[in-house]
Amino acid sequence: MDELDERLKQAAQILYASKHNVVLTGAGISVESGIPDFRSPGGLWERYDIMEYGTISAFRSDPEKVWKMLSEMEDVVRKARPNAAHKALAQLERWGVLDVVITQNIDGLHQDAGSGNVIEFHGNSKTLTCLWCHRRYGIDEVGETCSPRCECGRYLKPDVVLFGEAIPADALNRSFGAASSCGALLVIGTSAQVAPASTIPVVAKRAGAVVIEINLAPSLLTSQTTDVFLQGRAASLVPALVERVGEILGDQGRAVDGGKPAGANASCGPPDA
Ligand code: APR
Repeated sequence: MDELDERLKQAAQILYASKHNVVLTGAGISVESGIPDFRSPGGLWERYDIMEYGTISAFRSDPEKVWKMLSEMEDVVRKARPNAAHKALAQLERWGVLDVVITQNIDGLHQDAGSGNVIEFHGNSKTLTCLWCHRRYGIDEVGETCSPRCECGRYLKPDVVLFGEAIPADALNRSFGAASSCGALLVIGTSAQVAPASTIPVVAKRAGAVVIEINLAPSLLTSQTTDVFLQGRAASLVPALVERVGEILGDQGRAVDGGKPAGANASCGPPDA
């Protein structure tokens, strides 16, 4: 058995044994759905300067310019479909092995894959709000125009969190609440360069959780915070991990399609790392 396989089994055992499991995802999980990430070579922030296109003050001073970047992003997101990683996480939730997905992504692909409990830490691109009169629109209401406007005549802003904007309070509170009470945190496809999302794994670890990370390359978390690092593509490794959890559930005589019985781990706290 190779080292990766050994670690997959170890990670599956941790998820199985832990009472509350939380997942934190970043752009890397949606790369194999056709959405490029932000900071890998060719990523969005290599082609667009963050200060000129990614901040709320840039949007306020020149919304039409920022909409060039936003509409490119929107075109790509509109065509994307969930990949095997999103689907595997939805399966893990159906089995009762995953409580909540915290995502930094604005693409809605976890929900499209069937995940029911998703916290959108950086908002979403399905709704837009007028910063001036606060009227809110669904994406289908504004059509495919490059820079949609409100009935009041001003530019609309998608409900994604730009740099300089606050994280929605409910998402912030629920995410840090989940992080500080979980037994295991699975971190998938984030470079962990943007706070406060990047501090979620640190908070979880300090509270006693085991941190499992899946990424193509080591991130800022890997050496200090991660306990089990699984290096590779999310669309391969997440299903492989979930398959191993399924094998353990099967070995325990549980119907893997019927869900893990409530309280199956009632006596387990966070497992030892
Ligand atoms: N499988 C697994 N990991 C991958 C894959 C893949 N197929 N492709 C890329 N990755 C990894 C990269 O190695 C990198 O560590 O995903 C990570 C993507 O990092 P970023 O591009 O920085 O994306 P993210 O961490 O989600 O960015 C955080 O920054 O610009 C803001 O608001 C934006 O939510 C975003 C935030």
